Amino acid sequence: MSMPEEAPFLFLTCKRESTPLLKDETAALFPEWRFSYSRPSFLTYRLPEGTNTLRSALERSGELIFASSCSAVLGKVSGAAPGEMPGLFASFMEKRFPEAWRRLRLSVPLPSRVHFWLPSSPAPTPQTHARASELSRFLPGQNTGSDLAEGFFPPSLPRPGEVCLDCAEVLPTEWYIGVHQVRDFHGRFPGGYFPLTIPTDGTSRAWMKFEEGLRWSGFPIGRGARCADIGASPGGGSQALLARGAEVLGVDPAEMAPAVLQNPDFTHLRGRISQLKKKLFRKTRWMIGDMNVAPNYTLDALEELTSSREIEVRGLLFTMKLFQTGLARRIPEYLDRVRGWGFNQIKVRQLTYNRQEVMVAALKHPFRSRKSK
Ligand SMILES: C[S@@+](CC[C@H](N)C(=O)[O-])C[C@H]1O[C@@H](n2cnc3c(N)ncnc32)[C@H](O)[C@@H]1O
Repeated sequence: MSMPEEAPFLFLTCKRESTPLLKDETAALFPEWRFSYSRPSFLTYRLPEGTNTLRSALERSGELIFASSCSAVLGKVSGAAPGEMPGLFASFMEKRFPEAWRRLRLSVPLPSRVHFWLPSSPAPTPQTHARASELSRFLPGQNTGSDLAEGFFPPSLPRPGEVCLDCAEVLPTEWYIGVHQVRDFHGRFPGGYFPLTIPTDGTSRAWMKFEEGLRWSGFPIGRGARCADIGASPGGGSQALLARGAEVLGVDPAEMAPAVLQNPDFTHLRGRISQLKKKLFRKTRWMIGDMNVAPNYTLDALEELTSSREIEVRGLLFTMKLFQTGLARRIPEYLDRVRGWGFNQIKVRQLTYNRQEVMVAALKHPFRSRKSK
């Protein structure tokens, strides 16, 4: 990639299968970004010249639903063999980094740690941590040190505002070097990949996406929170809520896992959501949803519930399944529907553990229950 003196570049990473979706989304949201190069899970863009374009692009990149990470490009390191790469990286940091950093004019602190990952298989491993630790010796100035000691796994997380040097191994002999400042939940993890291991009593993989979704949303769901889980079987999402001390009504015509049914804070409402009386949800404040149906069906069901005078919902956390091509383009229209129900803080993202779907977190803020008025 040739880099003209003043035109900044960005690189984005995403799930392999979402590469065309991210390309499509970027073209729609940021038509002024010029697509430059892509490989599965990895896209680069040239930004228009001008002061602050890079800064504002980095700030707004959080709007990209299908991007796992976004970095300002510092350069690329290519070698003839994988074994050469650390040496070439060291030479990059010594000779090219100072000028590349100056050219970005980001007015942020120098990077204090290295994020190293493979965009096409971004789960962290002891090898990627060891690589990050090895490369961090070449950071300019002081590095944070303590967690970079040999063999430490996993390392501590950067704080909001901290700057990370991103090293994306696109090919074993092609590393893209970039930088990002931590602004959100996922920015603390290399490649935006949130590492989680399913607990031994975890009943489904869906535990992972709701555990991640609950942390990403920041919803204050704790002891005694009244929740409904629509599309609850076999029960991973309910388990993530129950572990926080919530009381859960699980709606699903299918069976729940015994481990979930045994929890005294769980009640199974067996059936389709449309068959159940709304008054069952009178006390519900939080709804999570994961039905394997088209987005408009999920939205119809949630609208029925949230627009009922009997129910006062403060927050929604639900998946929208993108089973057909073209549905991703309709996400803005779907979110408009959710806004129309009075949810004024809405986030949407394809999370680490979402597959052909995205997660929506919608909140009424401030929330005042009619009873307290
Ligand atoms: C992806 S699975 C849910 C996984 C679950 N969230 C977990 O954490 O284990 C989708 C579920 O949606 C349920 N479902 C589909 N349509 C539904 C409806 N109309 N009402 C309630 N549940 C429904 C299905 O029975 C199925 O169990």
